[in-house]
Amino acid sequence: MPKTEVKLHYKNVMADVIGNEHGITPEQLKDLAEKTSPLILRLNKERQGGETPYRDLPYNSQITQQVEELAKELRGRCENLVVFGIGGSALGNIALQTALNPYMHNLDDTQRSGPRLFVFDNIAPEQLSSFLGWLGDKLDKTIFNAISKSGWTAETAAQFMIVRQLLLDKLGPDDCKKQIITTTDANQGILRRIANNAGFRSLVIPEGIGGRFSVLSVVGLFSAAMCGIDIDSLLEGARDMDTRVSCEDFYENPAAINAAINYHFYNQGKKISVMMPYSYHLKDLADWYRQLWAESLGKKEDLAGNEVHIGPTPVKALGTTDQHSQVQLYREGPNDKLFTFLQVRNFDKDIKIGPAPDYAQELGFLAGKDLSELLNNEKGATEYALLESKRPCLTVLFDRVNAYTVGQFIYLFEVTTSFAGALFNINPYDQPAVELGKEATFALMGKPGDYEPGYTCEEFAKEIQSLNKIDEKSLV
Ligand code: PA5
Repeated sequence: MPKTEVKLHYKNVMADVIGNEHGITPEQLKDLAEKTSPLILRLNKERQGGETPYRDLPYNSQITQQVEELAKELRGRCENLVVFGIGGSALGNIALQTALNPYMHNLDDTQRSGPRLFVFDNIAPEQLSSFLGWLGDKLDKTIFNAISKSGWTAETAAQFMIVRQLLLDKLGPDDCKKQIITTTDANQGILRRIANNAGFRSLVIPEGIGGRFSVLSVVGLFSAAMCGIDIDSLLEGARDMDTRVSCEDFYENPAAINAAINYHFYNQGKKISVMMPYSYHLKDLADWYRQLWAESLGKKEDLAGNEVHIGPTPVKALGTTDQHSQVQLYREGPNDKLFTFLQVRNFDKDIKIGPAPDYAQELGFLAGKDLSELLNNEKGATEYALLESKRPCLTVLFDRVNAYTVGQFIYLFEVTTSFAGALFNINPYDQPAVELGKEATFALMGKPGDYEPGYTCEEFAKEIQSLNKIDEKSLV
């Protein structure tokens, strides 16, 4: 595959484009370079010291080999691959599938080289019930991949328990085993215990890698390899980006610049970060980014233990769709946002717009043009309109959308997140606030035992219920 690059274009956040009040002046950029440059050295050192193991995933040939071997073995007898997982155990899988497989992958056999893929990152009963109704007796041609790093997530556990029983009832214990793959920690968590006891095949998530940084591990690579995505190119893209984001020169390091610009605008009161892909294929990468950014940077305490309540709010929009729903606000509402467009230079497939009817010749200006030309001009037009309103705009430019560039993009934003964490002086790798919700769910669902020493889950549930109780007097 020819090497194509993903590049960050930052001219349109600068003061010479949108003015001194809202743009970054050359002096401010110089200050950002001075503040960020030592962090490049720090992150490189932390990485060499093994403190950020996600950075090494693209080099882990053991993972690739294991995933490829398993995919090779299963693809022949698998028509449907079902992923059960949530957050970091699902969003990467969805993003890779949308980015790299055709839109009609699941519906058109001729556009698919592997199984259909269904990722359930929700527990809406109607959704799963409709799916299982469609699946009917195709259970023996379906592989279920339950993914949970902690092994303790209620949603994934419930989905797994529903399907396990179904498989046991319909196929019996021996064949049930053939249809389930678990992806979890090597030692911890109940999913690990289940896999070991039941003898389910299992993929191990390497230690020290949080869900939202795990897409380039077995978490994202297995479904990708099963569904025909070139995981070698994906990882090669990530490795090549690694060289660029390790560069000690701030001005040559796209992750450092990206994080510094985001940090600057946050401090200038632009606390909302809108990612707006102008490519349907890239739309779920914006969802993946939303989790990465929100869960990593939204923190109560800084590294010194001060209460800071910090974190930019990531918003996803899709071009051109959201031009017709959001741009009114983006241009005329508060100037509190930084925009990051994703733009594709070359599309693998294009369609020419047909001629205008004789009686509607006013549309002749569109006739014969490529649809991609319209799409990219819409991006240009929206960016222009935002710049007219003094709104800062970054663009991540994809030469093409392929496994290699998507690998670059993923790695670029993972490392950008690490830089942003360092600039905000917070720990981007934990998620204590998510944990509380998980524990509260367990308590409400009747988990026995203590929530904390001297405080039972039952008591905890009562405390939650007193807040949840619908007050008839407040119902209107
Ligand atoms: O990034 C994270 O750590 C979270 O979003 C988790 O991925 C999510 O909560 C699911 O957790 P688990 O994989 O442990 O089931």
